[in-house]
Parts: sequence; structure tokens; C-alpha cells
Amino acid sequence: MNNPLSASAALLGRTVLVTGADTDVGKTYATAALAVAGWYAGRRRIAVYKPQQTGMRGEDPGDVHDVARLALAAGVPSAALTVAEGQRLTEPMAPPPAAAIDGVELLPLTAHVRKIVELQETHDLVLVEGSGGVLVELDGQRHTIADLAVAVQELAPQETADQGATQQREAAARRADVGKGRAGVTATPGPAPVATPATPGPASVSTVLVARPDLGTLNHTLLSLEALLHRGVHVAGVVLGSWPGDPDRLQESNRDYLADLPEIRGERIPLLGAVPRGWGASGE
Ligand SMILES: Nc1ncnc2c1ncn2[C@@H]1O[C@H](COP(=O)(O)OP(=O)(O)OP(=O)(O)O)[C@@H](O)[C@H]1O
Ligand SMILES: [Mg+2]
Repeated sequence: MNNPLSASAALLGRTVLVTGADTDVGKTYATAALAVAGWYAGRRRIAVYKPQQTGMRGEDPGDVHDVARLALAAGVPSAALTVAEGQRLTEPMAPPPAAAIDGVELLPLTAHVRKIVELQETHDLVLVEGSGGVLVELDGQRHTIADLAVAVQELAPQETADQGATQQREAAARRADVGKGRAGVTATPGPAPVATPATPGPASVSTVLVARPDLGTLNHTLLSLEALLHRGVHVAGVVLGSWPGDPDRLQESNRDYLADLPEIRGERIPLLGAVPRGWGASGE
């Protein structure tokens, strides 16, 4: 399956921040799958930015290189992809302690915002992969990926923001085929679809939360969504980062629950789909 998140392509803002319910949940895989979904939906200049890449020595390939490798394997030409890192730190820890061990200052949030704006000017899809989970500090000044998402959202023109992730998500949640056939995810039934712009506004910004299908995910996912929505982040939906080929009953039950989440702060957040475990291996 080359394009596991194809159903979510219409929901992608021009800029998509990818965060997780935890570290190691498959954010990098989901970011790659979103790049692939974007490419097959007609985005031709795709940038992937990792503000803080921890746990890296020298020229080790980081997450953005993994995204490029996976996207290439799924048919995205390398010329369509730009990859960039904000800062590289040695230890596999949250950025503030990792920076302290390396003896360097962390880049301020404004530097990441500037970089994202620069990438927006020359790309029609900008994917930003956070570090760890939602409330991991990025900059030594207590700012998180949620603060970065809000800062980038605030730069979007008001009318574009109003047509942004919330409306796109509502439209998608009403479509009967969202995620269907992608790990068997079913959509939230509802009234007729509302019009969703096929091409998002130039500055529309949304955030995707990547979650595990395993025990504990419901609490982690709900807490993460509540934290994002509480901070005013436009959440497009949830993606399962690594969906097993042979799911057990618990994983299926979790997937079904995530596909029909209760309202959180007055919003219904859809499950956008799942990345099959092993996706990208041997050209799949
Ligand atoms: N769909 C998938 N298929 C195969 N392996 C996967 C998949 N998703 C995740 N993995 C594996 O799980 C581990 C974590 O995945 P990934 O690196 O995408 O997580 P992450 O959330 O980006 O982690 P980090 O917080 O370090 O950035 C990796 O070893 C990766 O190979
Ligand atoms: Mg990653």
C-alpha cells in the first residue's frame, strides 16, 4: 500500500505539524505517509522540517532523511522534497537537557516560525515533525510544539484560518469513506458533506496527532488532544503510526474507539487513517 493516508489528503493544510501521543509512536512514518498523500493529491513542492533533532551524532541520518527515504520508496521524486533540520543535539533526550549536555543554546521558537514561513513561501506542503509528545519543551523557554502550531496559525490570514483545519475536519468526518479500507477505519456518520477546498489556502495550518494502537493509547490520545485543543491548536485528526498486519482484539477495539471519539472541548476529532507496520520496506 503506497499511499496509506490518501483519504486524509484533502484535510491537509498547507502546513501540517505532526506531533505524537508519545515518543516513538510513528511520527516519522506518519510524516512520510502525509508527504506521500500530499504528492498524490497534487502537491509538487513538499518540505519536511524537524525543529529539534535529538539523539544524533555527526552526519547520522535524522528523521527528515527517514521521511525522504520512505517517501521516495512510495514514488515521490526526490526533486519534490526539501528536508531541513533546525538544530541537531547529541543525546536522545528532550531538547533542554540534550542542549545542556551539548553545551549549546536552544533555538528560540521564533527561529522555527521563521524557517517554516520561509519554507511556506516556496512549497505547497510543509510538514513539521515535533520532538516526542505534545508538551515536550522545544526551546528552553517552556514553549512546545503546541505553541509553535499556534504561532504558525496566527500568521495565517484570518479568512484562511477560518476555512482551515476545523472546517476541513468537519467535512471529512461527515464523509462516509474517511479512512475506510485503511486499516478498516470507519467514519463518523453524519449529515451531507460540506464543501472542502481541494487546495488549501496558502497559509492554512493544521496539526495531526500520531498515536499507538496499543494498551494505554486511549488515555494518551485523549490527554494529548485535550492539551492541543485547550491551546487553540487546529487539530486535523489522529493517525495510527504503526498498524500491525495481524491486529489483536485490543488493538482493533482501540482503533474503533479512536474512530469515534467523544467530543473534546466541543470538537469531534476524526481518525484519519493508519500507517501499516512495515510500510516502506521493500518498496511497499
Ligand atoms: N508503520 C511503521 N512500519 C514499520 N516500523 C514502524 C512504523 N511506525 C513506526 N515504526 C518503527 O517504530 C519506531 C518509532 O517510529 P518513528 O521513528 O516513526 O517514531 P517517532 O514518533 O517519529 O519517534 P521520535 O519521537 O523518536 O521522533 C521506529 O523504530 C520505526 O522503525
Ligand atoms: Mg521521529
